[in-house]
Amino acid sequence: MYNVEEEKIIEQIKQLKKSKKAIILAHNYQLLEVQKVADFVGDSLQLAQKAKEVDADIIVFAGVLFMAETAKLLNPKVKVLLAKDGAGCPMADMIKPFQLQEFKVQHPDYQVVCYVNSSIEIKAESNVCVTSSNAVKIVESIDKDTPILFVPDQNLGNYTKMKTGRNIRVWDGMCPIHHFIFTVNDIDKMRKDYPNHKIIVHPECQLDVIKAADFAASTKGVADYVAEHDNIILGTEIGLVEALQYKYPEKSILPLSSMAVCIDMKKTQLIDILKTLENEANEITISPEIAKKAAVAIDRMLELSK
Ligand code: 13P
Ligand code: SF4
Repeated sequence: MYNVEEEKIIEQIKQLKKSKKAIILAHNYQLLEVQKVADFVGDSLQLAQKAKEVDADIIVFAGVLFMAETAKLLNPKVKVLLAKDGAGCPMADMIKPFQLQEFKVQHPDYQVVCYVNSSIEIKAESNVCVTSSNAVKIVESIDKDTPILFVPDQNLGNYTKMKTGRNIRVWDGMCPIHHFIFTVNDIDKMRKDYPNHKIIVHPECQLDVIKAADFAASTKGVADYVAEHDNIILGTEIGLVEALQYKYPEKSILPLSSMAVCIDMKKTQLIDILKTLENEANEITISPEIAKKAAVAIDRMLELSK
């Protein structure tokens, strides 16, 4: 339930959306009240696909910077606004363009696969982009003998390497939440306490955690699994756990750890959506040169995801 103040904000957002022909896209980790005002909520791949097809003048993106950049790239005529200035993904900043350029000069035989959680400049230096829901499929489409550099997430890279058996070298980036918070001990303890629950983790967790779980899936994969099952433990950010608990109050949906909070995903409040839309603030711009190069990696991903 919303309080009176929130009701007022929501009403103003609705009016502005209509008058400005705007839509709100939100990631699965956003605060529940933000997810509720969004026109579409999804994982990184779904949000990119949605951004490409929407007919709107403005997209307000409730998520983190790399997601809004991807939306802008895919729908350049639309004004894309990041709902909260400064909401970024720390993993995306764990590789700098000059480092990747150096690697490419030293290893010209490598194909570079970049996780969508990366800056637009990194995408511009990569051969193909992936998300957590299509990394395995896309890597499998690359010639078997080609060595691959996977950036910036070592964990999704190692998971993809395990699943495909390909010659993959991983960058040493990681998501501070999935990498450090979830442990095999958490899994062992939850299995003991809840023997009839399945444990699903995000592939940004470390490989030993992924192996100890029942399986790994993107946030959409998690939501799809929960739709079909009743007793589940989720090793992913708490926003998704709360949204699924809200959607399915009759199910037992437990967090593997309640400390898994992505501060950046939680920066966006209802009031930020209103202010951003009102002032048309935090507009995403991408230089034409970078956009042209990054579009190659992203378009290739969308094509291979069909
Ligand atoms: P998804 O693509 O699975 O939604 O993951 C995005 C993300 O940032 C996970 O931490
Ligand atoms: Fe980045 Fe991790 Fe937050 Fe996802 S949960 S946006 S990977 S810091």
